[in-house]
Formats: sequence, C-alpha cells, structure tokens
Amino acid sequence: MIRTAPPQELLEIAIDVARDAAATAHRMRAEGVSVAATKSTATDVVTAADRAVERQVLDALRRVRPEDAVLGEEYGAGETGPAAGGVRWIIDPIDGTVNYLYGLPYCAVSLAAEVDGRVVAGVVRNVATGEEWTATAGGGAWRDGERLGCSTETDLGQALVATGFGYDPRRRAHQARVVAELIPHVRDIRRMGAAALDLCLAAEGRVDAYYEKGLAAWDLAAGGLVATEAGLRVTGLDGRPAGPDLVIAAPPALFEPLHTRLAALDASGGP
Ligand code: IPD
Repeated sequence: MIRTAPPQELLEIAIDVARDAAATAHRMRAEGVSVAATKSTATDVVTAADRAVERQVLDALRRVRPEDAVLGEEYGAGETGPAAGGVRWIIDPIDGTVNYLYGLPYCAVSLAAEVDGRVVAGVVRNVATGEEWTATAGGGAWRDGERLGCSTETDLGQALVATGFGYDPRRRAHQARVVAELIPHVRDIRRMGAAALDLCLAAEGRVDAYYEKGLAAWDLAAGGLVATEAGLRVTGLDGRPAGPDLVIAAPPALFEPLHTRLAALDASGGP
C-alpha cells in the first residue's frame, strides 16, 4: 500500500529516528571503535557502528512506516524500490566515518525522506556535539530552533569554501589538482570530512560555499535540502542536478563565479 505523508510529519519521524541513531553511535564510540571492513578502497572503512546504526534506523522506520522504500549506505536498497507516490528514506548512518574512527567530533547521522524522487524532509545530527539541522521542502532550514540563512558574501576571493575527497586514489589526485588551482582564488579551503555537515555549515554561513565530486545519494540528500532551504543554489555543472558528477552549493552571488572556476578546472572530470 502506498501511503505518503506531509513533509512535516516525515520530518518528525526522521528526527526521532536520527536522535536514537546518534545516541547509539555516540555510545558505541565511547565503548571503542575499530574497522569492521573496507569498501571501495583500503581507506574506505566501515565500522561496526555504521552497520549497527543503519540496522537500528531500518528497524525503527519499519515499525512506523513498514511500506516505505529505503536506501542506505551500508545495506543498499533493501527488498523494495521506491513506489510511485511512495516515500523512500535515504540513510547515511555515519557520515564522516573516518572522523568517527579517529574520534574527531565531525560526523553525523543523516536521514532524508524522498517522495517521487524529490527530497522533502531531512535531518542531520552531529553524533559528537548533538547539533541538529533540519529542513522540509518549502519550510526552511533550521538548527536547534533557529531559522538558517546562507552567507551573504559576494566576492569569491573572500569566500571560505569547503570540499571533500573520494576514496579512490586516482580520483583524489584529480580533486587535489582542482583544489590547487582553486585555492589562489578564494579566501581558503576547508576539508572537514563529512559532506552532510559541510552542507549544513554552508546553510548557516559557517562556510560560504561547498563543492565536491563523487557524493552518493546518502551524503547529499538531507544536507542538500538543508542547504537549499537556507538559500544556497545546489546543483551540478551547467544546470544539471547535483549528484555524483558534482555538487556545487553556493549562495546566489557566489554561484556563477565558483561554477565558472570549477567548470574551467574540470571539477566533474577525472575518474
Ligand atoms: C564521506 C564523507 C567525506 C566526503 C566523501 C564521503 P563517509 O562519507 O562525507 O567528507 O569527502 O566523499 O564519501 O564515507 O564518511 O560516509
């Protein structure tokens, strides 16, 4: 049976589930953490917590909305795909897994609800600090009760730009060349290690803009909505939707100059 729901209702479910999930991740970190497996490369790690947290999220969603589809970083698409008009939940149990492994306080549970391919609700909760960002489509972006607006910076040369690197060494080499050519033209670069949180920081102007090639749907879904609802333009190159080829999240005044630079540097190219 297909049962959709208003974005606010989906957000309330997402918040409850993400808070419990973040509590589990926090507890498991305190108990000690180690690598359970590697994925795409030897540095792309999975901890027992990534799996346990995603399992907990799946179980919690199944209890309240058993008919919905899911897409998760660790367990994939589950048994069902998204039905027309139905809800699909997109889960990153721990975004910033390497930070989590090293005890760096920049990792998050990210949970979004999508209806007909459009993200309508999302929450990102920092596992270490408890900071929580939320958004619904058309309902604004919020952190801890405060409505968010992005940076008003208009000069790319004054912009603090966050980015990230994939796990494939050849991709990283290309990404490093892009950064090397970009950094003389911006205030500075930040590589903090969790894409969902980077997007949330951009949503409140704690960085001015963000870009990255290679994001998966679970890295982008909730944070992308938070950034969009805070006024950033979130797209790929040449008007394409944001996705694995490239995500650019920039305030309107910075978007064109950043886009032009990234296009010239072939930021969506390489392996
Ligand atoms: C990674 C982080 C990182 C980004 C990578 C992502 P994970 O997600 O978001 O900041 O640069 O592209 O894969 O592996 O920690 O969930």
